[in-house]
Amino acid sequence: MDQLNIIQERLAAELAEMNAIIHSSLHTSNELMNQVVNNYLKVKGKQIRPIMVIISAGMFGGVNTHVLHAGAALEMLHNASLIHDDVVDETSLRRGKITVNAEWGNHIAVLVGDFFVSNALAAGIKTNNIAIISALSDLGKELSVGEVDQICNARGHHFDEESYFKMIRKKTASLFMNCVKMGAEAAGAKPSEYQPLVEYAELLGLCFQIRDDIFDYSENEVIGKPTGNDLREGKVTLPLLYALNSAPADMADPMKDLLRRGDLSNSEIDTLLDFAKNNGGIEYAYNRMRQMENEAENLLASYPENHWKQSFRDLFDYIIARHK
Ligand code: IPE
Ligand code: IPE
Ligand code: MG
Ligand code: MG
Repeated sequence: MDQLNIIQERLAAELAEMNAIIHSSLHTSNELMNQVVNNYLKVKGKQIRPIMVIISAGMFGGVNTHVLHAGAALEMLHNASLIHDDVVDETSLRRGKITVNAEWGNHIAVLVGDFFVSNALAAGIKTNNIAIISALSDLGKELSVGEVDQICNARGHHFDEESYFKMIRKKTASLFMNCVKMGAEAAGAKPSEYQPLVEYAELLGLCFQIRDDIFDYSENEVIGKPTGNDLREGKVTLPLLYALNSAPADMADPMKDLLRRGDLSNSEIDTLLDFAKNNGGIEYAYNRMRQMENEAENLLASYPENHWKQSFRDLFDYIIARHK
């Protein structure tokens, strides 16, 4: 059992209640919609985001119905972003299963993704907390901007780390930050109390995306989604960025030329992946994650020592070490 399984088991009752909220709110009078949605919900993801909502609420007074609605809202918004992401990335495998776009077509996937977004907002409204509702709608905007930033970085051939970090902060870390914020709000905490934890979640979320991006560099990971896809779409992630910016120019320049030219063949993609690996890109990315984890630990200092706080640490360890 890994650290995530342990946390999932400890929170099994809360997660089951939250999943029941998701199921009932996504039920409609349209049979096709029900079929697509039920089929999609059959294989759950890791549910790290609602877990963060629950742990955050636990830090500040406990889990109540509003917390579970906030968790359901964020998990549905996350699922919407994945359903749409698979259209954008033209992917046909997710969670070891055929994607909505591959099975039902882009039309259905776009509409079902929209349906998830609206249901996320509706679940947020159930919390009766304007701070939660406004955070949720701001978050929806930020996720979309992050995805478009990614396309702009790829098209503009931005090979600097700063653009990469700004983009993953929006497209990924913002969700994690809002999990902590909404969980704390639903538990009745004040912004001054939860602000350090939101910063913690930002670092955790950045590491989550960096680890996810490293999956793309390996062929034999069993993660239930394709690898090697990012470069095919011109998306340059941290290991390769590091190599491009640190290797001698006579090695890095031809790689940059390839990326600028685009339309990469499989062997060119392999060349770029090997270049990143052979020039310390993967080690560098792991070192950055460990640095961020240490920095994050300091942000926990003001909170009491209890199993909720320990769960945040376990989750951070898991996120760096995970294999799916
Ligand atoms: C995938 O998130 C999207 C990224 C931010 C990289 P997860 O890996 O948490 O997806 P599921 O929900 O567990 O499938
Ligand atoms: C996932 O992004 C979607 C969002 C973070 C909005 P990616 O395209 O990087 O993730 P995977 O690898 O498909 O899950
Ligand atoms: Mg994708
Ligand atoms: Mg994507």
